[in-house]
Amino acid sequence: MTDIVTRRLRLRRFSRDDAPTLARYRSDPCVARYQTWCSPIGQAEAEAIIAGYLTENPDGPGCFQYAIELRRRRGLIGDLAFAIESGRDQAEMGITLAPDMRHRGYATEAMTAVADRLFAAGVNRITAACDARNTASAKLPRRVGFEQRGRENQYVEQRGAHADFLLFRMSSEQLRRAS
Ligand SMILES: CC(C)(COP(=O)(O)OP(=O)(O)OC[C@H]1O[C@@H](n2cnc3c(N)ncnc32)[C@H](O)[C@@H]1OP(=O)(O)O)[C@@H](O)C(=O)NCCC(=O)NCCS
Repeated sequence: MTDIVTRRLRLRRFSRDDAPTLARYRSDPCVARYQTWCSPIGQAEAEAIIAGYLTENPDGPGCFQYAIELRRRRGLIGDLAFAIESGRDQAEMGITLAPDMRHRGYATEAMTAVADRLFAAGVNRITAACDARNTASAKLPRRVGFEQRGRENQYVEQRGAHADFLLFRMSSEQLRRAS
């Protein structure tokens, strides 16, 4: 089963109908600023991205992209990706919310629920990483239960500039303590 239902959210497989909303929030410069894609994203590009997501297997190994929506109202509000390594020991997570859906705890709720499912599926350790200048993103893993394990200096070349990357790691015990 793919869907995860939390107190306020439903995490589900992407649908082709999500393309306009995905294009809209990924085109926002403040959303794209520390991400790997270049904004703006057009409708055709969003449709192609979603076509790729529809081939992914949530039971891994490999990547899976959840669409996030509110339980009380249908429609995409963000997305959460995880990648399970081939040995299944470790997974990495990343998340994006539409700007008007931030600061309500939705990202924390979504990451916590997916982490819980990954640990239940046998993953032993979850990692996350973010550009050190991305302050909102750096706070999020700590809230979920991750600890910072390092800093890669000048690790990523983002739009021509080098930046530091913060590296986070979490065990099931750390998730349990934070929840
Ligand atoms: C990273 C990102 C998802 C974090 O979003 P966020 O809104 O900060 O995180 P949450 O949804 O968990 O909300 C937490 C905030 O809501 C507040 N909040 C309000 N109501 C809340 C509630 N009912 N429950 C929990 N928290 C609540 C919390 O206090 C917290 O505030 P703070 O940041 O001032 O401490 C968002 O900034 C984003 O999409 N950024 C662009 C994409 C990106 O860079 N992603 C990272 C890639 S590595």
